[in-house]
Amino acid sequence: MKDIRNISKEEARESIKKLREEINRHNYLYYVKNKPEISDSQYDKKFRQLQELEKEFPEFDSPVSPTRKVGAPPVDHLEKKEHLAPMLSLNSSEKEEDAEQFFKNVQKSTKETSFGFLLEPKLDGLSVEVVYKNGEFSYATTRGDGQTGEDISENVKTIGSLPLKLLSSSPPELLAIRGEILMSKSGFQEINKKRIEKGEEPFANARNAAAGTVRQLDSKKVADKPLDIFFYELIKTEGRHFDRQEEMLEQFRKWGLKTNNLKKICEKMPEIKKFYRNLKEKRDSLSYEIDGMVIKLNQRGLREKLGSRDRSPRWAFAWKFEPQKEVTRLTDILLQVGRTGMLTPVALLEPVDVGGVTVSRATLHNEEEVKKKDVRPGDKVRIVRAGDVIPEIAERIKETGKKRGNPFKMPGKCPVCETPVVREGAYVVCPAGLSCRAQLKGRLQHFVSRDAMNIMNLGEKIIEQMIEEEMIRSIPDLYRLEPSDLEKLEGFGKKSSEKLYKAIQDSKEPEFERFLYALGIRHVGKHIARLLAKKYRNLEKIAGADKEELAGIREIGPEIAESISHFFDNEDNLKMIKQFEKAGLKIKYKKTQESDLLEGKTFVITGELEGYSREEIKEKIESLGGRATSSVSDNTDYLVVGKNPGSKLEDAKKRKVKRLDEKQFKELISK
Ligand code: IVH
Repeated sequence: MKDIRNISKEEARESIKKLREEINRHNYLYYVKNKPEISDSQYDKKFRQLQELEKEFPEFDSPVSPTRKVGAPPVDHLEKKEHLAPMLSLNSSEKEEDAEQFFKNVQKSTKETSFGFLLEPKLDGLSVEVVYKNGEFSYATTRGDGQTGEDISENVKTIGSLPLKLLSSSPPELLAIRGEILMSKSGFQEINKKRIEKGEEPFANARNAAAGTVRQLDSKKVADKPLDIFFYELIKTEGRHFDRQEEMLEQFRKWGLKTNNLKKICEKMPEIKKFYRNLKEKRDSLSYEIDGMVIKLNQRGLREKLGSRDRSPRWAFAWKFEPQKEVTRLTDILLQVGRTGMLTPVALLEPVDVGGVTVSRATLHNEEEVKKKDVRPGDKVRIVRAGDVIPEIAERIKETGKKRGNPFKMPGKCPVCETPVVREGAYVVCPAGLSCRAQLKGRLQHFVSRDAMNIMNLGEKIIEQMIEEEMIRSIPDLYRLEPSDLEKLEGFGKKSSEKLYKAIQDSKEPEFERFLYALGIRHVGKHIARLLAKKYRNLEKIAGADKEELAGIREIGPEIAESISHFFDNEDNLKMIKQFEKAGLKIKYKKTQESDLLEGKTFVITGELEGYSREEIKEKIESLGGRATSSVSDNTDYLVVGKNPGSKLEDAKKRKVKRLDEKQFKELISK
């Protein structure tokens, strides 16, 4: 681009228009389709160019520019706003009989012999109305009492997957739609951890976390939160009509609005029951919370015939999942010292099955939580498990006439190393760092875990012994161990010692992103580690980056930036990195991309190949700018088929995904 100062107004207008269109498209590809076509740094470059141009030419300002997705100045309250049509609720129940009754009622009232239902998950988030005028985002409101909600436009605008402009050259004049804002399960846990660290009250569940976040007054604080939005209903429209729900969702998708892909059209009750069971089985594996299944008439004309009750339509029903709650007895409260030194009270429970999983422990977060719940050894408690979230104690069940145990008290010393503890907000922390055995153990366990250095056969018990026997005092010490040292471990013979020795030595050339994750930097999970490894070519570059620079990376907020910066400012950590080098650790940095031949293309591999191992072909694809994923979806461009292919081949045929044998793949990349 030309120097911004020499650019004419006309040129600026054109460039701004073009950049906005490009960025909107890349946002869509990244957040909605999950299939980016350009690298993050290419994206950041475009974003900055647009920001600069908009600053220089404020006359071309637009409330729907993608630069507005980073938040606006804070407000002092949320304005009330009436909905364009009432936002109804759903009639719901957990009982199969009630679902059957709903089916019969629809059958009776429609008097039709054949009608389809659209089944989809009941998303457990926060319901919102979003209004687009002539294809541009106009405002968003909470559901409120169904008639009037609160204006949360600025906050909703920051959600990555929400388009500020519909992808269409002839959008409807008015489109008011209903969707659900969700926070991912992992995002929810992350946020709660941070809240507790700061001495704030943790959110009870992901839905509350999403609701709390979206009703904030400062939209900049919303911008870095893991929120997502799915659309599922029409509230009001002008200039567009839909006969069937299915068709409407398809149009939503074409406009760039995210819809849920776990849906099915069914006609009869047995199929409906089957889908309900399937959904229930999938529940734990989803990255967001669902709490049931919604059954809706597919034909929108029939819906009008059925109409609504006072607050809920007759054409839809929410068949909820039973809450995953059970009652058991608390036997003791233990203190766990985590890898960051935090002392967390943990409730030991008489084992109980909650929704198919045996629960024998529940986290109590901190002292405040224990006090608030007032649980003591011997108490009867109700346990809840929402999705795959760690089980929690919902409440104590009072028992009359029973003598209770002593109330819980936080100790003044670390239960492991006896160092006097310190208070950090609502937390009590052992300040001894890696000289506390519990912290060293936690850090080591994380270091060797599957997604980190992936050192097999190095379980908790062995790590404990190594520390106990003072075989290791720091993480890099691991690499100094000889087979003869390992033989001293309980249950270890010559063979097993050599095996473990080899596993440790074999981990000496970790991929950059794995090593970054393995370091255990606070707030740096797998995803952030990957982002950092993509952005920075080596460790020195990250260590040298300042907070502002880090916070400028997409998806890295000020808190994460602060934590990374803090880690690399710490002398002990720098010493540890040096020790790793001394011990012979060589980080494998990704080769810089060879070309962009496969840019934007997604590959899946099945069967055995002759010329490549799985890792090698993945590396090859990535070095040419492509992506290699593990399962076939609508986003897959090519399936590379080797000998003895698996079920992916069938998936690819069904979805009409192009298939390449090894020879054809080689031809493709030699172009
Ligand atoms: S349809 C008029 N579909 O469940 C019917 N609702 O009361 C409009 N919900 O607050 C709702 N997933 O926010 C519909 N796939 C889905 C849904 C869904 C979640 C929420 C909705 C509402 C609650 C039921």
